[in-house]
Amino acid sequence: MLDNVLDFIRATEEAAIAASKWVGTGEKVKADEAATEAMIRRFGKIDFAGRVAIGEGKKDKSAGLFFGDRVGKLKGKVSANEELELAVDPIDGTRPTVTSGPEALSVVALAEPGSLLSTDVYYMNKLAYGPEIKNKVVLKLTDPIEHTIRLISATTGKDFSKIMVCLLDRPRHESIVKELRKLGVRIKLIQDCDISGAIATCLPESGIDLLCGVGGAPEGVITACAMKCLQGGFQAQLADKEGKVQDLKVYGIDEIVSGHCVFAATGITNGSLLRGVRYTSLGPVTNSVIMRSKSGTVRWVTAHHGN
Ligand code: FBP
Repeated sequence: MLDNVLDFIRATEEAAIAASKWVGTGEKVKADEAATEAMIRRFGKIDFAGRVAIGEGKKDKSAGLFFGDRVGKLKGKVSANEELELAVDPIDGTRPTVTSGPEALSVVALAEPGSLLSTDVYYMNKLAYGPEIKNKVVLKLTDPIEHTIRLISATTGKDFSKIMVCLLDRPRHESIVKELRKLGVRIKLIQDCDISGAIATCLPESGIDLLCGVGGAPEGVITACAMKCLQGGFQAQLADKEGKVQDLKVYGIDEIVSGHCVFAATGITNGSLLRGVRYTSLGPVTNSVIMRSKSGTVRWVTAHHGN
């Protein structure tokens, strides 16, 4: 079912192009509407039926793709247990989009029917790390950060001063930032877009060893799909905006996405993962990535679109 999925990159490309028209305009609502509508339109041209398991919806008063929404050319034509599940964010980084900041992406993750975690909770406490660490040591989200850093140091052979931890720059992270500074670890504070922060831990050239802290729950589910495809590690707890965890349950990747999945993203603005949309006399150019958990394939795609 998730074998022939290259078409989904067209959905993130079109959403990213639609969003790119609002780069630097300050118009968050219009950017979000444009990206969401473009994505839904393209889904309608793809031979599949999908149901949104988790999206931006209520938290960001987004323009559509709410929990339970059905999309795809085959919507309404297949039974519910044949519908793919979607975790979707037409713009991860609405603020950097409309302020012409870095790292904004259009993203979608698709998973086999019934296999995505769906929650009303808006935030997640997250821990993400690459396959090199995951394959050698057991990290635990609930461990004190000092212990986690010691394990990473022992595993990678890096001194604390060479370890880089990525975190959203939010007041709720003040105490963990203080602890990391005390340990002498490097910190990459990002303003937004913790999906690409997490993926960066799987890309050795990024220099980022760990992503931690509280970010959006839809982004957490999307991140779990990407990390499953990249064979990285990811754990999460449901939390509130202040960072207080809702219960002690720690979800591993396979509890967030139990079946096979696909992750597709296109850059809206320039970032460490993907270049943003740029315009030439022949039309827009996009950079995207599409990955599949079943095969472990990761494809980087540059597309030149006609005017
Ligand atoms: P949106 O652009 O989709 O709103 O998300 C941007 C983002 O930075 C996410 O990457 C992150 O998970 C979340 O917002 C953090 O939420 P908050 O800004 O409320 O701390």
